[in-house]
Amino acid sequence: MLDAVLFADLVTELPSAVRLQRLVNTLRSHFGCGAVALLQLQQAQLKPVAVQGLLRETLGRRFQVAQHPRLAAILASRQPVRFPPGSELPDPYDGLLAEQPGAVVPVHDCMGVSLYVEGRCWGVLTLDALSPANFDALAVLQLQQLSLLVEAAIRITELEQANRALRQGGLPTVGTSTTAAQQYEIIGQSPALQQILQELDVVAGSELPVLLLGETGVGKELFARQLHRRSGRAERPMIYVNCAALPESLAESELFGHSKGAFSGALSERAGRFEAADGGTLFLDEVGELALSVQAKLLRVLQNGEIQRLGSDKLRRVNVRLVAATNRDLQQQVKQGEFRADLYHRLSVYPIPIPPLRERSEDLPLLAGHFLEQNRSRLGLRSLRLAPAAELALLGYHWPGNIRELEHVISRAAIKALSQGAQRSDIVILQPELLDLPGSQPQAPALEHIELPVQGLKQAVNQFQQQLIRQALQQHQQCWSKAARALQLDASNLHKLAQRLGLK
Ligand SMILES: Nc1ncnc2c1ncn2[C@@H]1O[C@H](COP(=O)(O)OP(=O)(O)OP(=O)(O)O)[C@@H](O)[C@H]1O
Ligand SMILES: [Mg+2]
Repeated sequence: MLDAVLFADLVTELPSAVRLQRLVNTLRSHFGCGAVALLQLQQAQLKPVAVQGLLRETLGRRFQVAQHPRLAAILASRQPVRFPPGSELPDPYDGLLAEQPGAVVPVHDCMGVSLYVEGRCWGVLTLDALSPANFDALAVLQLQQLSLLVEAAIRITELEQANRALRQGGLPTVGTSTTAAQQYEIIGQSPALQQILQELDVVAGSELPVLLLGETGVGKELFARQLHRRSGRAERPMIYVNCAALPESLAESELFGHSKGAFSGALSERAGRFEAADGGTLFLDEVGELALSVQAKLLRVLQNGEIQRLGSDKLRRVNVRLVAATNRDLQQQVKQGEFRADLYHRLSVYPIPIPPLRERSEDLPLLAGHFLEQNRSRLGLRSLRLAPAAELALLGYHWPGNIRELEHVISRAAIKALSQGAQRSDIVILQPELLDLPGSQPQAPALEHIELPVQGLKQAVNQFQQQLIRQALQQHQQCWSKAARALQLDASNLHKLAQRLGLK
């Protein structure tokens, strides 16, 4: 019966993310367990690609295998591994089970299996049950058999992805995960972000200069690196130039190099950044800060395609792909005479605006999960997560500093939690007060501040729910589906609840 469902999904044309998600859903109901997760191995870490029964933020976490002995044990075995309820090994999903957010699940049953695709270890499938004796010998045997179907589904999904990439003229993503790709991974699944990534892939394959635009902290540098990695120049260097840190007096020799004795201090001949980037990409970051005199020199090189080291007559041809980024309004700067119009037109052949975080709040839980796991690992905590009210507070904030600010807010809150007495062996749950968001009101009253209900518990709970729903709606411009997501409710359930509470 189950096999039939899985087989049907294998042969049906489905978007790849949907296929793998349906697979874990089906497995979860078959095994009657709390959570199922499919994680892809990327060198030393495991990346969740589909989860069911775990908080959504789990999708942004990257689990370092060396730090998670259960995952390491599953990877090390070709057979399914079952961890008996009494197992002492820490659980990577502690505090992340959706049914009991934040709770320590004292006895529970887990098993997992490593997955192999084309003879290579692809990743793992894990199953967690909240009751202690959920998985018997038969379940372990079934897991072994079903893992073959899971492997087939992954293989099909990868083929489809490679196929799509080929049609778009880009590079296939399969098997191209490098250390750099991990270090600069772009987290998020919002439609806005997905669209940019697709666009980036297409334009990466061209030789066009790209101008990345967007507020501070939106990730322009990450996108520039991704553009280079996905371009035909990926094997050649990407040379980074911070235009804001380029003093007018040194700019020319930095960019174009100099010959020996070109100026006092030029003790030997040196190539500039343009030559270093030959065959690759030159990334002009903070390009809006470039001094006008340097702009003129840069323009000349871009027009001729030739550079001249300072103090030398020799013309050298260089072949670089230009990528520039700025958080300034370049068009405005052009109007004000601070940026040359001709240079602006050369750089902005293909502008890519990156939307601020507040316009892609779907990415927020994933990004938060990503930074939570980083901090958990860095601080050596057993588990680190947000209280639901803290997540609401993050969703309600306007993030002028975007993702960089989110990263700092979470790191600071984690350290504060520790300094206020949280133990490394606890499940550390960050409350909204710890986030210390500037100018924001606490989203939900801290429990100790609630007046004892005069009208009875039930009515008080109703009132509290009404208040939370109104707040969520207000923060999401009365959009019910966004409010539902913020409250981690199904939209239809939210409608029902609101009706019952007399909000509609
Ligand atoms: N989608 C993302 N996933 C993971 N990390 C991200 C993402 N976007 C941004 N970051 C992180 O946020 C921080 C800020 O990103 P980045 O430096 O690229 O911003 P920027 O747009 O260049 O900002 P500025 O204009 O101030 O230079 C970095 O630490 C980066 O790794
Ligand atoms: Mg930057």
